[in-house]
Amino acid sequence: MKRVARVRGIDLTYEEHGRGFPVVLLHGFPFNRTMWREQVDALKESCRIITPDLRGFGETGVTPEPATMEQMAQDVAALLDDLDIKRAVIGGLSMGGYVTLAFYRLFPLRVRGLVLADTRAEADTEEARQNRELTARRALEQGMHAIAEAMMPRLLAPATFSDRPDVVERVRSMIVATNPKGAAAASRGMALRRDQTGLLFNIIAPTLLLVGSEDVLTPPPLSEAMRREIRGSRLHIIEGAAHVSNLERAEEFTKALGQFLRDIQP
Ligand code: MLT
Repeated sequence: MKRVARVRGIDLTYEEHGRGFPVVLLHGFPFNRTMWREQVDALKESCRIITPDLRGFGETGVTPEPATMEQMAQDVAALLDDLDIKRAVIGGLSMGGYVTLAFYRLFPLRVRGLVLADTRAEADTEEARQNRELTARRALEQGMHAIAEAMMPRLLAPATFSDRPDVVERVRSMIVATNPKGAAAASRGMALRRDQTGLLFNIIAPTLLLVGSEDVLTPPPLSEAMRREIRGSRLHIIEGAAHVSNLERAEEFTKALGQFLRDIQP
């Protein structure tokens, strides 16, 4: 069910489905909560799944720039307070993964488990920061169709483009529906994010890493490195998917996530 919570000065839109074990899933850039539809449908029978639109995305309010990963993590914590949830599994894809790591750094005791999909712990390189600025300007000056044009070829695997027009269309519509100001704020916020590689060794929460074998934006070696650093973590490589692995290979992604959640539930 769609709901709105007034937290930290914004109207944060989220969906909540199911009961019991709380699981929060955070979307990537520049998407929104609907990217988790398949996972929500499959897991709501066994968990309480919460999928927010992060600050500046979907139906959640846009705030002045930049929108940092820490701000978004604090929004999620405030939402959990609002829902009276003390601890939850926190997971995210790509930018959602950056927010997840920021959340762990700020609120480690609130994390029951971590899911890091198609993401990285490293900060941006100087070149990546410059590209963030170009993305922000392109969004503001040319609009989200230009962003879709620039990003789409690297988001999805060749097999997705040839066999899954529905997924291609869904990803494109999420991008073009995004508020350019929200996208610019998050792009500049991602450029400011800190290096979290030093945090990995201190993570004691059960952790599932997922990555598409064809992901060129956050390639599998980055997840393999996180797998070595985070004690006891497991890595599931999704063959044939690229960066939006939860949509490109929804069934396999959901199965791995469901198994992980079953294993860590009390
Ligand atoms: C995402 O999918 O969230 C973005 O690709 C993240 C990024 O640009 O680093």
